[in-house]
Amino acid sequence: MTHGTGNRVGGRVVGLLGLAALVGGLVYDGIAQVPPRPGPDPWAGKLPKIGGVEIFSTWPKDRPEAVLILSGQTFGFLSPCGCSRPQMGGLERRANAIAMLKAKGWPVAGVDLGDFYPLKSAVSEQGLLKYATGMSALREMGYFAVGVGKTELDAGLLKVVAEYALQKEQPPFALAGNVVGVSDKQVIPREQYFPPAGNGKRPTVGLAEIADVGTVPVGVVGVVGPSVARAGEKADDNLGFLGNKDVLAPAVQALANHPKRPQLNVLLYQGTADEARKVAGDFPQFQVVLCQSDDAEPPQFPETISHKDGKKTLLVQVGHKGRYVGALGLFRKPDGSLDLQYQLVPLGEEFLTPETPEAEKANPVLPLLEEYAKQVKDRNFLAKVARLPHSAQIQKPDLNLSYVGSDRCLGCHASEFAKWKESKHSHAYEALEVYAKRPSLRNFDGECIVCHTVGYGIKTGFESTEKTPALKHVGCESCHGPGSGHMTAPRDAELLKLMSPWKANPADRLPDVATLERIAKAPPGGPGGITDLPAAQQRIINFVSQTCTKCHDAENDPHFDLAKYWPKVIHGPGPAKQ
Ligand code: HEC
Ligand code: HEC
Ligand code: HEC
Ligand code: HEC
Repeated sequence: MTHGTGNRVGGRVVGLLGLAALVGGLVYDGIAQVPPRPGPDPWAGKLPKIGGVEIFSTWPKDRPEAVLILSGQTFGFLSPCGCSRPQMGGLERRANAIAMLKAKGWPVAGVDLGDFYPLKSAVSEQGLLKYATGMSALREMGYFAVGVGKTELDAGLLKVVAEYALQKEQPPFALAGNVVGVSDKQVIPREQYFPPAGNGKRPTVGLAEIADVGTVPVGVVGVVGPSVARAGEKADDNLGFLGNKDVLAPAVQALANHPKRPQLNVLLYQGTADEARKVAGDFPQFQVVLCQSDDAEPPQFPETISHKDGKKTLLVQVGHKGRYVGALGLFRKPDGSLDLQYQLVPLGEEFLTPETPEAEKANPVLPLLEEYAKQVKDRNFLAKVARLPHSAQIQKPDLNLSYVGSDRCLGCHASEFAKWKESKHSHAYEALEVYAKRPSLRNFDGECIVCHTVGYGIKTGFESTEKTPALKHVGCESCHGPGSGHMTAPRDAELLKLMSPWKANPADRLPDVATLERIAKAPPGGPGGITDLPAAQQRIINFVSQTCTKCHDAENDPHFDLAKYWPKVIHGPGPAKQ
């Protein structure tokens, strides 16, 4: 099939019959209005700032007719892990930000671009559960439409949408108007390939939705752009995509003719900004186009595309992983038309739920996250991860190298053991079992366990506290690898080498603490830094760093610097003499 933004499918165009009637049927009227909360605004002076300016402070002082929340490419990040602070994003904070706007008496609804499914999921059922949890959370926040992106297509779109929408027709409704089924090279219309839920009228993947947000009827259309369509066809033989123009031309027509007369048309465009610009030029009927983000960090303002007739389209990008959302304020001008205001909203710690029972009860997302964690535990996803061999196990396949636990090293390495015992590594499991909250039960989630235990996801590594109690916490073997061979043949040179994979020669050592402290203070890449050291020391620093950053990665510990961290866990020098 072809994917020019204006091309037809190489064959027949089906599924467009009755399109106008179809859009006509789809008016979502479930957006509840709330009166302003009486009393002083509890958020006054506490909102995040961008460039020193508090968010929303530049908006007109009159009440907006409606506010539309724009989000996308959440990639399964339901909540920040809490490994380091501050971290941004998460659905709990998104819900609080939206509640903050609703408390002003502003009518708020949301639309999401899609790519909600995680980028990678070690256990695919967990990816599906995350998607369904995320959709429920969006519903609770007042979202009514969500696009379909590459992550949903890669995971199998039919399966993904079914996870949330097949039992019951409920918002947010998935929109990807140009997707079709393909069987024996025959096109199966979208409405047929993605049939409605038992109680519903909408196909589980739709083209357009209209909703009244406050006094403003808003039309939303979702399509997949050529680049994502190509990836989608590669991922799933049973899917094909119509050209963008094939569905957008009738869609804008249908919206214009709809008795609701939408005053704002929004396009959820699952394609690059370049592709989106082109489509925005072809269809000036959309005042807002939400597209994929070029960068993980979003621009502060949308790009404005001006059309010949003087009309404008805002091209919005909101970044990755749900760390930001965009808020679009619709203000009524004296002539009745709408003035659009945009605010990028960073979901920082300002939006954490206050630790009071009332505040926790008011957040609709917290029970969903708790239920998610409970499901992860009850369905025992922990046991479903694929177990791959460690590099030492690959190098010595005949020795059946296995993990033995840190206690087994104590007898011969008392001083290293003592040092480890007083480090945070020896308590790392408690971070999940005791300290992690909202949700709790994190010690049953493989996505957390992997860095807080020994060898999870590796043959003979951590399975559960019952089966492998000795492998709780970050142990000796988290860095040194499985130790069964070495402890039975402690002087075997080859096994010793496997225990210190960062060494090129037995005599290689990390620089001493004084040197590391000097490096830590030097400007990156500047004089006195790592590049001034002998090559062998640079090599071992880099190699050891890689061992650490498997866990201390940019996501979980953005502050990691071996020169600063190693002195806190330093140990050696060699084992006790026997
Ligand atoms: C990629 C590895 C990795 C993953 C995955 C991971 N963590 Fe962590 N976690 C770390 C590291 C590294 C630290 C220490 C960071 C520091 O000290 O700066 C940490 C620290 C923590 C802490 C702080 C403990 C303290 O003493 O303050 C908590 C709580 C925590 N993690 C919870 C979680 C939860 C919950 C998950 C799953 C959602 C998770 N972690 C997943 C690597 C990870
Ligand atoms: C039976 C005693 C014994 C036990 C148990 C033992 N070791 Fe050792 N280990 C030694 C001896 C002896 C050496 C020193 C060998 C030498 O210098 O020739 C050594 C050396 C090492 C080295 C240095 C390797 C190198 O680069 O030369 C590491 C790392 C190490 N052990 C880790 C561990 C870990 C981790 C455990 C627990 C899984 C462990 N050892 C259990 C006796 C033991
Ligand atoms: C966070 C990762 C990490 C953990 C956990 C860890 N080690 Fe190490 N260990 C290292 C690194 C890195 C070195 C190399 C240090 C150097 O070159 O100065 C090392 C060095 C050693 C050495 C000396 C090797 C030599 O060259 O003589 C021994 C012995 C050792 N560790 C044993 C242990 C034991 C026993 C435990 C658990 C009680 C443990 N280690 C826990 C990372 C770790
Ligand atoms: C298997 C995953 C893993 C590896 C590998 C790992 N760490 Fe950690 N590290 C953690 C976790 C998890 C924590 C947080 C434990 C807690 O606070 O409960 C942590 C905490 C720490 C801390 C304490 C930080 C603080 O806030 O005081 C230091 C220091 C540290 N690690 C250094 C290292 C160094 C250096 C290496 C590599 C030689 C390394 N770690 C390798 C998982 C890991």
